[in-house]
Amino acid sequence: MKFGVLTGGGDCPGLNPAIRGVVLRATQRGHTVVGFRDGWKGVRDGLARPLEPADVIGIIDEGGTVLGSSRTNPFAKPEDEAKSLAQLRAHGIDWLVAIGGDDTLGAARELHRRGHAVVGVPKTMDNDVGGTDWTFGFDSASTVAVDALERLRDTARSHHRAIVLEVMGRHAGWVALATGIGGGADVTLLPEEPYDEGRLLARVREAVQARGYALVVASEGIDLGVAAGRAGARDEFGHELLRERGIGAEVARRIERGTGIETRSAQIGHIQRGGPPTLFDRLLASRLGAAAVDLALAGRRGEVAVLRGERIEGIPLDAALGAPKRVDAAWRDLLHALER
Ligand code: F6P
Repeated sequence: MKFGVLTGGGDCPGLNPAIRGVVLRATQRGHTVVGFRDGWKGVRDGLARPLEPADVIGIIDEGGTVLGSSRTNPFAKPEDEAKSLAQLRAHGIDWLVAIGGDDTLGAARELHRRGHAVVGVPKTMDNDVGGTDWTFGFDSASTVAVDALERLRDTARSHHRAIVLEVMGRHAGWVALATGIGGGADVTLLPEEPYDEGRLLARVREAVQARGYALVVASEGIDLGVAAGRAGARDEFGHELLRERGIGAEVARRIERGTGIETRSAQIGHIQRGGPPTLFDRLLASRLGAAAVDLALAGRRGEVAVLRGERIEGIPLDAALGAPKRVDAAWRDLLHALER
């Protein structure tokens, strides 16, 4: 059989190990693979190249994606849809493996509904895909953010300042939660909780009094009740570009105004998405890539490989595309216990 594979949406560490898992499992079982360039754009425009084991053996530790990525939606226009289906036929693709977050998997579901054999692999540094315990990319991105927070701690301590670190994650607070816990922040602001300025200012004052500095982690997705920065800018799938709002800088201004404590902010943005995948992400992505091929060979059309506890399972794309996974009450309770 002939497999096609693509990576769509925002890149993250782990995409290359996942591609490698697809190619090495498929060839182990006697099948061939072609890679589509730049996500669904490559399917629509027929940009494909064969992927042999030699092409992927050495990419386990590389960040980004050797296939390239885009936020192209192949079902946005009827002509793009027709072109994409024709290209899949022209390339003789029996199964398509779509590696991506909710937008990419949503397009995979559309393809499945139109009768093409497709399986999905969830990825995103946001960790917000439903039906899976973790997505790869999240561990690597959060590890980078924790490193940034530790560096900010050194300078905050020297200058007796408060520093706010803004992290990505869209409308889910997983990266902020992991950074806050892993980096020992005094306050972590999540999109899953209403913004409480009184608590924020009190915690910052207490921290500065107790140890001379304060560290705050702010998720880019928090709602301050008013538009901040360049609010409203959107990507191709209609998602607001949240970093344009400058939430971290706005929180820092409010802390300084409310406490009189000198406060700075840092926005590490796409730095979180670069660099080598962590071991956790290498293992998870490798397993999911191979599992997607196994699902296809078992005839499980329209399924997505997910992590459930220790096991990799297949679930329908519909189940993964239900409600996005948000930080739940138990995690929030733990976070606040650890902030004290
Ligand atoms: O979904 C991954 C993510 O990194 C989000 O955390 C962030 O809001 C968004 O992508 C940024 O998108 P772009 O790379 O298009 O600027």
